[in-house]
Amino acid sequence: MLEKIEDLLVEVGNFSSANKDEIEQFRIKFSGKKGIINDILAQFKEVPNEQKKEFGQKINTLKQAVEAKLEGLKNATTSTILFEKDDLTKPGFPSELGTRHPINLVKNRIIEIFRSIGFAVADGPEIEDDWHNFTALNLPEYHPARDMQDTFFIETNPDLLLRTHTSSVQIRYMEENQPPMRILSPGRVFRNEAISSRSHCIFHQIEGLYIDQNVSFADLKQTIQYFTTELFGKSKIRLRPSYFPFTEPSAEVDVYWGLNSETDYRITKGTGWLEIMGCGMVDPAVLANVNIDADKYSGYAFGMGIERIAMLMYQMSDIRMFFENDKRMLEQFKSL
Ligand code: DAH
Repeated sequence: MLEKIEDLLVEVGNFSSANKDEIEQFRIKFSGKKGIINDILAQFKEVPNEQKKEFGQKINTLKQAVEAKLEGLKNATTSTILFEKDDLTKPGFPSELGTRHPINLVKNRIIEIFRSIGFAVADGPEIEDDWHNFTALNLPEYHPARDMQDTFFIETNPDLLLRTHTSSVQIRYMEENQPPMRILSPGRVFRNEAISSRSHCIFHQIEGLYIDQNVSFADLKQTIQYFTTELFGKSKIRLRPSYFPFTEPSAEVDVYWGLNSETDYRITKGTGWLEIMGCGMVDPAVLANVNIDADKYSGYAFGMGIERIAMLMYQMSDIRMFFENDKRMLEQFKSL
């Protein structure tokens, strides 16, 4: 009999449950009217007198162990029950809002501006072939201007590369469509450049293209001026002669940023002017490559780096921040 009680003590010690029904069953099994403890007590009178003391102590130990166990389990479950019955009218825990990435904010804003004057968005692949990235854009093999863009080639296929600019989408779009056309192509581009605060091997560009009859350089200038006014609130621009193989004439666009703060002096190197994009009239040779009649149609194109524009708008000094995605930086764009 004493051994049986020892076994029961072990059983009580090992019992554990968070389930209310199981705990109740445990209680009934040991402390219920017809439970084990009462059953043992009923046998008490049959215990020889000399063993009664030890036996009584053992039963008490068992009784206390059961009570202690029930108490412990009750405390453990009341906390979960309390939680279930928590005041449902209390305000909830605030769930954290995500943020748009600054690159997407700027991209979306630029698209919105150009959409308002009739530009549609066109897409192209990031893994490009030589024709769309270079040759059709008037950059034949061995053309020295290819060196301007350090290219990542796909090792297994010398004809494939990671596009170095979104100008490749111009070609794809012109191959598939007939003028008039007005498109904007945002996307990632890749160049084998050393990473620093000012340049990265991955960045984003937005390409613009407009082809129609009688499109002139004046149209290009007006469009860009509309754009800089909308985006930066700055309407003073200048177009500096430049060279791109796919446009003739070509220009680089500067915005007059002003010299109102020390930052302005620093970022404009004391001139007040900031370069924001390249542009020009689409070279007739490019139109010929995509079977568009250059005697009938003309057009302009432009291309800009989104990171550069975002750095200007948000006064960020290191391009690497856009890729590190430190939460402390991203959180600052929550309300935008
Ligand atoms: N593709 C040029 C670059 O990556 C940018 C550019 C310049 C695009 C002039 C154009 C353009 O469409 O007309 O630097």
